[in-house]
Order: sequence, then structure tokens, then C-alpha cells
Amino acid sequence: MNILVIGSGGREHALCWAISKSPLCDALYCAPGNGGIEEVATTADLSPLDFDGIVAFCRDKEIGFVVVGPEDPLVNGLVDRLETEGIKAFGPSAGAAQLEGSKGFTKDICAEFDIPTAAYGRFSQAEPAKAFVRERGAPIVVKADGLAAGKGVIIAETVDKAEAAIDDIMGGRFGIAGAEVVVEEFLTGEEASFFAICDGELALPLVAAQDHKRVFDNDEGPNTGGMGAYSPAPVMTGAMCERVMEEIVNPTLAAMRAKGFPFKGVLFAGLMITPEGPQLIEYNTRFGDPECQVLMMRLDSDLLSALLAAADGKLGGVALDWKNETALTVVMASKGYPGAYPKNTEIRGLDKASALEGVQIFHAGTTRDGDRLLATGGRVLNVTATGTTVAEAQARAYEAVRLIDWPEGFCRSDIGWRAIARETGSA
Ligand code: AMP
Ligand code: GLY
Repeated sequence: MNILVIGSGGREHALCWAISKSPLCDALYCAPGNGGIEEVATTADLSPLDFDGIVAFCRDKEIGFVVVGPEDPLVNGLVDRLETEGIKAFGPSAGAAQLEGSKGFTKDICAEFDIPTAAYGRFSQAEPAKAFVRERGAPIVVKADGLAAGKGVIIAETVDKAEAAIDDIMGGRFGIAGAEVVVEEFLTGEEASFFAICDGELALPLVAAQDHKRVFDNDEGPNTGGMGAYSPAPVMTGAMCERVMEEIVNPTLAAMRAKGFPFKGVLFAGLMITPEGPQLIEYNTRFGDPECQVLMMRLDSDLLSALLAAADGKLGGVALDWKNETALTVVMASKGYPGAYPKNTEIRGLDKASALEGVQIFHAGTTRDGDRLLATGGRVLNVTATGTTVAEAQARAYEAVRLIDWPEGFCRSDIGWRAIARETGSA
């Protein structure tokens, strides 16, 4: 079967890497892809939002299955369009992707179906939102309702800052995504990312991961898309995973069926593990980036057949095996990220770094220019390694980082610190 993966990040490199190993995969394409994806797939210069172009490409290359990586095309209906055209795809419909596309939609589902989440209010006018903030007090969290590339969440330590955030969001900073705001209670605990592949009826849990959202060491500085991740997540014990399935994931699947939007694809629950149990912070309707990279390193089963089973509504009886080891990824980003950064700087030394035992380098924002590899994005490389402990995976990943010659790049030096503190008993 010919496969097309949509997207251009480290997540899509990891997906292509895993799919390329499947006995069911004949030709593998990725649109638009990047300089690393070219090693495992044929890239095609198509935007993920060019639905006509994607359909034409699928016809031309006789694509039997499309795997959609990022949220934008999902929320905008790519899977619906492909299905109308008779092309099988992995990912939710636009209706089901509202779980990521509208925070208010998700909060209302949680309220109606008793899914644990922070208490909230949903507002389309600034004044009532501010009144809610004054009534609840700080700290409090203000969120743009729609997609804001991870930047639409403000944790306000004071009532004044929360009111300013409401004005900022509703004043058009995120365009239409900020036409509504969700204001919610501030939760404390440890965060984890939990994933399940869903076929509309059933959810097959994957393994959990943790990422590091802040740009600098010690979890300081602004939020990013993620500066590193590891799996397993020690906080997600077997019992905790069962609770998440029972209290959060399965009720969500039932709710989405009841609403007429059966959920197919990856359900990614951003969780806060509180002393009282797991609380849903938000849903994403796709694999996490960079969490996907560590999941793919640990997967010991055929990814493609599981994704096909989900798309076909036949997940019953499907089981996935996972390697009993830790995978950890360090994101190398262009200096300046998540703000402005230079483009087209040259990266050297990847061959030596990827030759290390247990190391796999996924590309996020690179392009090839003849023999040269250039950085083109904010997040550029995901230096990923496995090990029997988090400390070993971390040591290997940073050994690889040291072999990479890229003066214009940087990374955090403490990815995995929380898990290592647990391992060494210093937590
Ligand atoms: P989100 O984009 O909704 O995942 O939010 C981004 C980050 O903001 C999360 O990963 C949390 O670190 C933080 N966050 C969001 N909502 C809350 C909340 N209600 N309480 C505490 N932290 C939150
Ligand atoms: N790493 C978090 C995300 O993919 O949204």
C-alpha cells in the first residue's frame, strides 16, 4: 500500500521512520516533509492546508492511506475531505477535532459527562470574563478558545494580569481563535501526556510521556512547543493509566459518539496528576511533538497496521508491544526560539552523532542544500536515545548533542531531570 504522511516536523519524521519499517508499506511519501524525512520517504512540496493538491497527489501516486500529523489540517477538515474522495485516512473529522480546536467545546463535554477537569467559565465578552476572574481570585488561567500554536494560555498570578490577558486575547492577538476565552481554576500537580489510538468506539492506550514546555533549564522562560520529552513517565503508574482510561478517555469517546462526532485518531490527553487524581488540562487530537518521537522509539509492533485498524473501526483485538526501556529526546532549536531566530544556518556532525548506540536523530526544521544540511525552523533536531534507565538515555542523547556542530543552535541541558531525581531517590 502507498502511504502519505502529512506534516514537516520531528513528529512526522518519527512517524515516517516507524511506518517505513512496516511490511504493509510499499511507497512512502511525506508532504511537505523536511531534510531528514527525505531519508525514509519521498517528500512532496505540498502545504498541509492545500486539500485540492493533496487529493490530486493521492490520485497520482495511488495513495491507499493518509496519516495526518498536525492539528491545523485536522481542525480544517482534511480527513472529512479525503473520506468524501474515497481516500482512507488516519485522524479525526473536523467535528471530532473540536476537542483540540475549541477549548470551550472540550470543557463543556467534560462538564456534561463528568470528566475531571479544572472548574471554568466560557466567555465571548470581556466584562463577564473579568467579573469571573475577580470572583475566583488568582492564580487563575486564561485561554484563547481556538488554536494559538501553544501560545494562547496565560497563567496569571494576579487578578490584574488575568484581566490584561483577557483584553489581550479578545483584542485580537490570536485573531478569531481569541473571539472566546476560557477562564479556569489553576491546578497544581505533575503534568503528563497520555495517548490513545481510537477507532470511534474503542480506545487503545499507548504509553505515557512527559515533556518540557519551558525554553530554559529548570523549567524557566517562555513556553514552547516542547524542548524535550521522555517515556515512560514515572508518575503514570499502571493504576494511574487505568484511572485515566476509565475516568477521562473512555467517557470522552462515549461523549463524542453521543454528540455525533465519533472520535477516530490519536487522542492526546494533557493531564495534571493531582493528589486527588488525574485532571484533564486539555486535549490534542494528534500525536504530541516531541512526545511522538519517544513513543516511536519504544514501539515494538507495527504502527501502520494499528493506524489502519483504527481508521477501519477495527481496533478490537489489536495489542501493541512496547520496549521495556526509556526513550528520551532533546530538542535542538535555533538560538532565539521561541522568538525570532536566524534561518539557513549550517549543521554538521550528524553522521557521527547518529552512529552512537541507541541514538536516532529526527529532524524537525531542516532542509538539504546539496551536501549541506540547513536549519530552517525554530525547533530543528530531536536528538533521541534509548537506555535501560532515564539517566542512561539522557547521557547518550547529550553525548550525541556534543558531536553536533551547530553554533547557532541550543538545547536545554536538563531534559528528564524530574524522572532522574526519582530514579536516584533525590525527588
Ligand atoms: P495547554 O495549551 O492548555 O496545554 O496549556 C499549556 C500549559 O499551561 C499546560 O501544559 C500547563 O503547564 C499550563 N496549564 C494549562 N491549564 C492549566 C491549569 N488549569 N492549571 C495549571 N496549569 C495549566
Ligand atoms: N508537546 C506538546 C504538544 O505536542 O502539543
